[in-house]
Amino acid sequence: MALSIGSNKVKTAVFISGKGSNLNSLIKFSKLKKSPISIDIIISDNSKSKGLNYSKIFNIKKRIFNFKEKKVVERKILFELKKRKIDLICLAGFMKILSKSFIKNFNGTILNIHPSLLPKFKGLNTHERVLKKKEKYSGCSVHFVSAKLDSGKIILQKRVKISKNETTNTLAKKILIEEHKLYPKAIMKIFSP
Ligand code: GRF
Repeated sequence: MALSIGSNKVKTAVFISGKGSNLNSLIKFSKLKKSPISIDIIISDNSKSKGLNYSKIFNIKKRIFNFKEKKVVERKILFELKKRKIDLICLAGFMKILSKSFIKNFNGTILNIHPSLLPKFKGLNTHERVLKKKEKYSGCSVHFVSAKLDSGKIILQKRVKISKNETTNTLAKKILIEEHKLYPKAIMKIFSP
């Protein structure tokens, strides 16, 4: 694996709430020489988020913010991001909805990954709803974050076929494998055309 030396890379914050498998894949990607980004901080709304372990493993700063008072906490996060000259936010399984004003005030780009073929199946419990509707395909999408949930411009998508005996678990696993490849690809598409 070619590692980058020095850094003119886009300073990036990854926001997580849970397992952080997308965070892990983004960190690994960021260490490749060809990667246009460096991951400078991990932000979570959940102190029990397993993904926070990657902070120790990869020696990346982490900050946990309690979202009880959204306005206040968003101001604190913006301050932290500005201080670190962060230009890109990657939401990766982040379960809080950022306010319009946060999105407007962040002077950079915000990306999200969603486990469906947007604009279909926005929001939560995606896989359940996909199976209930007897869809033939599902997949994942990386998109720019806009004020409306899961509705910003789509950067890249990957389609997966739904098998006969698919369950929400098997579908989630199958799609997650694709997510780990799609997020880096989408970042390459934006920053290294
Ligand atoms: C992923 O399926 C992502 O698309 C969704 O939440 C899940 C997060 O998984 N928004 P992980 O925490 O990256 O493992």
